[in-house]
Amino acid sequence: MSTVDAVDLGRRRFLTATATVVGGVGVAFVAVPFLKSWSPSERARAAGAPVEADISKLEEGAMMTVEWRGKPVWLLKRTKKMLDDLPTLDDQLRDPKSQETSQQPKYAQNAYRSIKSETLVLVGICTHLGCSPTFRPDVAPADLGPNWKGGFFCPCHGSRFDLAGRVYKSVPAPLNLEVPSYRYMTDSRVLIGVDPETA
Ligand code: FES
Repeated sequence: MSTVDAVDLGRRRFLTATATVVGGVGVAFVAVPFLKSWSPSERARAAGAPVEADISKLEEGAMMTVEWRGKPVWLLKRTKKMLDDLPTLDDQLRDPKSQETSQQPKYAQNAYRSIKSETLVLVGICTHLGCSPTFRPDVAPADLGPNWKGGFFCPCHGSRFDLAGRVYKSVPAPLNLEVPSYRYMTDSRVLIGVDPETA
């Protein structure tokens, strides 16, 4: 498969991923209609305006996707187990402390890479060549091995990221997944594309 084909494949997977239920684990996936025709306000959003996400119905362990600047942005509500597993992975990761400052705002440069520990907000684009990784919260699946504790897997060239978007060592992707700027408007409404007023 050529690189171009691989990237196209990744984009197709992004377009169809919102309708996909991750096999066997019963994780809810909130569908977002990407393929409808865009209204003027949606075109403005694609050009860079902030995008609001309503996470009020997001259940523990589930992820939803919104589009911001033409890119998928994931919002994942992590379980306590998911959060507890994160520090156990540090020695397998390339940048466990998020020291590469380009990959997250300062207020997300922490152990969870988020403002509130349970809710992860990430740009769903692989830092290798731009495919969209798949959400793989299943623990120790046959294809990812017994040490897999859930994360994101890029089907294009096999890069792996944990449930904070931190990249594993020895994969093609050089950087952690990007955390966009965002702030909470209320406990259940997140505005993507702007920093917190107090930041
Ligand atoms: S685009 Fe190459 S591993 Fe993700």
